[in-house]
Amino acid sequence: MRIGLEGISFSVPQSYIEMNALAKARNVDPLKYIKGLGQVEMSVASPCEDTVVLAAEAAASLLANFNIDKSSIGLVIVGTESSVDQSKPVAVFVHHLLGLPQACRTFEVKHACYGAMAGLNMAINWIQSGRAPGKKALIIASDIARYGAGTAGEPTQGAGSVAMLVSDSPTLIEFNLKGEGVYSKQVMDFWRPNYSKEAFADGHFSINCYLDALVGAYESYTKSTGDKSKNLAACLYHVPFVKMAHKAHLRLLEFERGAPFEKDSPALKEAQDDYAKRVSPHLDINAKVGNIYTGSLFLALLKLVEDFDPKASNRDISLFSYGSGCTAEWMTAKVLPEAHLRMKKHPYQKVLEGRVRLTVEQYERMLEGAGKADQNDSNICNPATWGIKKNFLYLGTHNNVRNYAVDGEVIIRAEVPKSEAA
Ligand code: HMG
Repeated sequence: MRIGLEGISFSVPQSYIEMNALAKARNVDPLKYIKGLGQVEMSVASPCEDTVVLAAEAAASLLANFNIDKSSIGLVIVGTESSVDQSKPVAVFVHHLLGLPQACRTFEVKHACYGAMAGLNMAINWIQSGRAPGKKALIIASDIARYGAGTAGEPTQGAGSVAMLVSDSPTLIEFNLKGEGVYSKQVMDFWRPNYSKEAFADGHFSINCYLDALVGAYESYTKSTGDKSKNLAACLYHVPFVKMAHKAHLRLLEFERGAPFEKDSPALKEAQDDYAKRVSPHLDINAKVGNIYTGSLFLALLKLVEDFDPKASNRDISLFSYGSGCTAEWMTAKVLPEAHLRMKKHPYQKVLEGRVRLTVEQYERMLEGAGKADQNDSNICNPATWGIKKNFLYLGTHNNVRNYAVDGEVIIRAEVPKSEAA
């Protein structure tokens, strides 16, 4: 059975900030953010754009762009680490906002940035099982990365969502299912306790944890399949910031050759050229959106599919997912020959061009407001306050129930239990 992606789309908040401006405001050389981390811009979520809104937008865009019949969707999984409720999953809000059929399973998955990859695995297994013939799975990675103003993690924030449709009639990507590459180890590299809106990170340690996990997952994959990375047409990595994908690719090549690269050596030059060919062309969206945690790897995938040369479609690509804490997976897939034609109909660059640039002061105000957006019965989530004009909106929590608007007019309000309403 062939299993893969029939659609992929993404969403970002309405606003962004330039890294140049942020660096100046923090008295940092802008080259540190732009060259040192590889980030040019960063998406900023307003209080009216929560994880649900971003997920619903990405999924609605997928359904429209790829002309998907809603009644075919039998599974909705949202991978997130910026959930809105300890009990109610983002997936069921999205299911409601999109008007998906009730004969459908919905749930949420968490393991830091790995959540959506876990969802993808579940979808593949569900389709492979043959229990729901003809049904498709909507897998959504949706997150808001927040470390707070003035922290070391601040330039690696971001927000957005990627939606993917998994089915047995793929037109974009087909997954290779002959083996697996997985790795897990308990480490305190990055976490967000229930009492905090902002993540804690042991930044430099987290980079080492990521690189160890990459080697572990890749080694597990090569043992399981005998495949090697040199045959891959492209290598995609989890992208908390663009430079991390560069570090990852060089570490992978070092592991393959069995020795570190020496400074200024021809081998290092060759590795840099290889990065420029097989990795960096796919990271443009990441550089302008920032870290969207669960979706970062799939933003790179979307860009790759959009640009893919059909002549390379007989060669595999790799996908490396890393979730802090930590767990990781290396998998491979093929981009199908007609994929770029399907993607070209929806120029994703336009989504980024439509964003509104914020000043540092406006960004700081938005960051502070978004931190309070879940307070019960507050007026913070008023779209007019923040100038947000979108089809899906979070209107705040009232009477302990989250309120959402669709298409500017219809207010979707989760029902209050009859006992309370009386
Ligand atoms: P930092 O300590 O402020 O930065 O934090 P730095 O001093 O390490 O500098 C960064 C880079 O800029 C370095 O490059 C500098 O040399 C360079 P490198 O040596 O690493 O190649 N640099 C300059 N370059 C040009 N001109 C200059 C200049 N100055 C410096 N003037 C750090 C950086 C990433 C640690 C911080 O932002 C952070 O803590 N971020 C959050 C944690 C993170 O993103 N970790 C990544 C791995 S873990 C992961 O990916 C999982 C995650 O997504 C969460 C999840 O799974 O849910 C985070």
